[in-house]
Amino acid sequence: MAKKSHIVAIIQARMGSTRLPGKTMMDLAGTPLLNRLLTQLKGSNQLDEVVVATSTDPADEVIARFAKENGYKAVRGSEQDVLSRYVLAADATKADIIVRLTADCPLHSPDTVDEVIAAFLKAKADYASNTSPYTRPDGQDVEVFTRRMLGQAHAAAEPGPDREHVTPWIRRNTTISKLDVLHPLPHCPALRWSVDHPNDLEFARHVWSFLDKRGPGPFNFEEIMSAVTQSGAKQGNAIINEGFYLSIFKQANAEAAPPLTLTKSAEWLERSEQVIPGGAQTYSKSWRHHIRGVTPIFLESGSGAIVTDVDGNQYVDLIQGLLPNILGYAHDEVNRAAHDCACHGHSFSLAHPIEVELAEGLCRLIPCADMVRFGKNGSDATAGAVRVARAYTGREHVAVCGYHGWQDWYIGTTSRSAGVPKAVRELAHPFPYNDHNALEGLLSSKTNQFAAVIMEPANFVWPEPGYLEKVKEITHRHGALLIFDEICSGFHFGLGGAQKLFGVTPDLATFGKAMGNGWPISCIVGRREVMKIFEEAFVSFTFAGDVSAMAAAMKVLDILETGDAYARMTAAGTKLFDGARVMAAAEGLDDVFRLKGHQHWPLFSFVDDKGVDDPATRALWVQEVTRRGVLILTTFNVCAALDESSTTKVLSAFAHAFKRVAKARKLGVRPESWLDGPVPVPAFRARG
Ligand SMILES: Cc1ncc(COP(=O)(O)O)c(C=O)c1O
Repeated sequence: MAKKSHIVAIIQARMGSTRLPGKTMMDLAGTPLLNRLLTQLKGSNQLDEVVVATSTDPADEVIARFAKENGYKAVRGSEQDVLSRYVLAADATKADIIVRLTADCPLHSPDTVDEVIAAFLKAKADYASNTSPYTRPDGQDVEVFTRRMLGQAHAAAEPGPDREHVTPWIRRNTTISKLDVLHPLPHCPALRWSVDHPNDLEFARHVWSFLDKRGPGPFNFEEIMSAVTQSGAKQGNAIINEGFYLSIFKQANAEAAPPLTLTKSAEWLERSEQVIPGGAQTYSKSWRHHIRGVTPIFLESGSGAIVTDVDGNQYVDLIQGLLPNILGYAHDEVNRAAHDCACHGHSFSLAHPIEVELAEGLCRLIPCADMVRFGKNGSDATAGAVRVARAYTGREHVAVCGYHGWQDWYIGTTSRSAGVPKAVRELAHPFPYNDHNALEGLLSSKTNQFAAVIMEPANFVWPEPGYLEKVKEITHRHGALLIFDEICSGFHFGLGGAQKLFGVTPDLATFGKAMGNGWPISCIVGRREVMKIFEEAFVSFTFAGDVSAMAAAMKVLDILETGDAYARMTAAGTKLFDGARVMAAAEGLDDVFRLKGHQHWPLFSFVDDKGVDDPATRALWVQEVTRRGVLILTTFNVCAALDESSTTKVLSAFAHAFKRVAKARKLGVRPESWLDGPVPVPAFRARG
């Protein structure tokens, strides 16, 4: 019979925390913080041994003594090279399987630990964790790996964050068998139960005082969760994993990144300029939006979160085709669904059952959807929705807020209105977001003439409480229809779109972009009575019923609904969002770096000391980020394929770029003078 593996929890612990020095031995409702974790682990059925790994710093003597006095082994090693401390502890205990835990998790639960170990054993993996993505609160973190993996990491990891945080090298290693353990629902990744700051300590004290009244423990996850809820304890509000971002930041320098070779991009542009006006098919994909000589102009291939340009440079893509690739490029299952469908013909002479199936699925997922019509682009959908609203109400004017596509009815309201007849331009009227009085004023200025209010329910600015409800009330009071343009928010903010997130149901809504993960498809959904107007109003085009894109969309919706894509997007998006903020603050740039919006799609910018938009500093930051292998425009377009190695690469690029920007400011250098190309100027801005 095979020898049973010796499973050892190694708890890293030290007194020298920067944010809460001495926390490990601080009192937590009558006993040291460390002891809470040790006691909880007594409830584990999977662990054979628990060992405390602390440093040789004299201040950590107290930790080693406490462990020994309470019957645990204590191992002491390097303070910074925690990875080597793990090796010492693994050797001292003859561990075959290591469970990595940190002492700052006094609200850990033995069943959580056991679930991850059991999943690891069952999968025969090299590494398993429940942190990628988080489905339990921060502070319930468990990582399990083999002694062999630890040895490999020890041999290969460079000094710095990889050694300080023990497992980044393993987590980035794509050749090993890794398991992401997702705990059963409900998932609660936004909860913070680890102790880093004084207010975290207060929270844990409060919860433990409550738990202690229930008995001696150990307590399982559900019991702790119910204590958290019933005790009314308020969790700390510090950024989760701040230390990790700071250690990546520390590694960065302020030097200029070397230029990329973009020779072939330049050659293709020369050819393109002879035959393609504007140099690209989509306005925001043109070289004019990027720094010439810095950003590639032509891409050749994409896989997951990564794209390769025509010169062979690789980038983590934070544009993702302007949002469609929610699951990442070349997604196998989606492509197979579309391909299989196309193999049996896909532009048919009559309707196809898949249209009905997809429409049924959308009606189930989207609150306002009783019926559906399909299109190819977002602009097909918004134009169709406005056409139907005009036909339904018998009115002509529309109020618009946000960007709604290239067609006459809308684009005439922007500075890119060349070619749009004046008579058409006069029928659409922009109104500002989050200002219901302005909308009221606009609709009152042409009583009984507005067919619709069409708006992005949210983009980078969140609706003020009650705003969307008020918009709906005003719109209906004026006899108009409310259309939510969810081309971007739809699917990126969740399956039911922003209307589900904010609980306001419009009459009609438009979806597109992410719907087919890059396969071209969009739709108009809405209230039956209004949608029936499609039987009269003419909205019809040859490829609207292309079933290969519909097969792709069916698969995308299925993956989004049943898989872990959203959890992965939130995990990656949170890292980029929080990491950028932490690093900007660490460089003293938090007053001039702005980041706002949903974590799956936030907008970043720089402002000057007076708060005025500063495109030159933004361009310098983008130049440095791009040259370190990140393709970026003005937002972080997060996809589910952004894994640990991609997010680490992006965070490292951010760190260098912030340092470079800070250096320019300290030296009084104009950012333009460190730029290798002109600052791109957007030709129009539709979003306020
Ligand atoms: C909110 C919104 N509506 C409509 C559109 C138009 O979509 P498309 O470019 O697919 O025609 C866009 C495109 O970016 C958009 O962001």
